[in-house]
Amino acid sequence: MKRDLIDVKDLTKEEILHILELTSKLKKDRFSMNTALKNKSVGLVFQKPSNRTRVSFEVGITQLGGHCVYLSPSEINLGVRETTEDVARTLSRYLDAIVARVNSNRDVMALAQNASVPVINGLCDMYHPCQALTDVFSVMEKFPKLKDVTVSYIGDGNNVCHSLLMCCAKIGVDIKIATPAGYEPNVNVIMQAKAFAKQNGSDIVITHSPIEGVKDVDVIYSDVWVSMGQEVETQQRIRDFANFQINKELVKHAKPGYVFMHCLPAHRGQEVTGEIIDGGHSIVFDQAENRLHTQKAILVFLMKG
Ligand code: CP
Ligand code: NVA
Repeated sequence: MKRDLIDVKDLTKEEILHILELTSKLKKDRFSMNTALKNKSVGLVFQKPSNRTRVSFEVGITQLGGHCVYLSPSEINLGVRETTEDVARTLSRYLDAIVARVNSNRDVMALAQNASVPVINGLCDMYHPCQALTDVFSVMEKFPKLKDVTVSYIGDGNNVCHSLLMCCAKIGVDIKIATPAGYEPNVNVIMQAKAFAKQNGSDIVITHSPIEGVKDVDVIYSDVWVSMGQEVETQQRIRDFANFQINKELVKHAKPGYVFMHCLPAHRGQEVTGEIIDGGHSIVFDQAENRLHTQKAILVFLMKG
């Protein structure tokens, strides 16, 4: 049976730990599995722009000995030029896996349900699993004893937040989330994550107070206030998120050895100040690099069985 990766919740704790271990091996020697995808082709179906996801997947597929086809928004035009279901059925006849960056979770679900090859979610409105697995790997590089770590996510409770929450809950890492009122994570995601956290002995705190959100944490994580596709809401969001900026005053409440993380792209002066993201606590480019290693591990895991 083929496996998809729509969100981290599709993976067991053991599978997540296996992917993290494989990531570590691939990071130590990026050509160690250079025939893993020999004679395999992977399609990148993107409805939204991308720097990290597209480039790290393309380069990763090449390093694993595979071939990559990038399909831009104007080429595939999911659901407009033809149905998403027909796209999935057709691409399955050519490709060995599909990475999809789509507007709605429904689109990636429809691709997965109708494709006979693995579908990897490269971001939708609800989830960003490749990012979250990378993030946990990046946290582990800095704090090898994950059990002692508290991660804090400050900002919008949407895709990146959901997957990070789920990944932390699945492997038993404490997480605190601070959002403005009205921007909380999805209630079903919170409920599922709470059930996993309980199994794994970790805590989840959801608050509207950024200070409570960063108090005594090891990791402060931030994402844009205006996600792709929400540009018309920019002015409203800048007002609503004004107290949620990561700046030198806020980080005083974290542990002295905290690290700053961001999925990128970042907007200096909005969700984070330049002095924080460009300062000594920031690990955002290690994190960006780790997308490459983690996604290679995901591809090997899903495509080699
Ligand atoms: N973090 C992330 O997914 O970056 P891109 O949007 O550039 O792919
Ligand atoms: N929340 C952001 C993440 C970008 C990687 C967005 O959806 O645009």
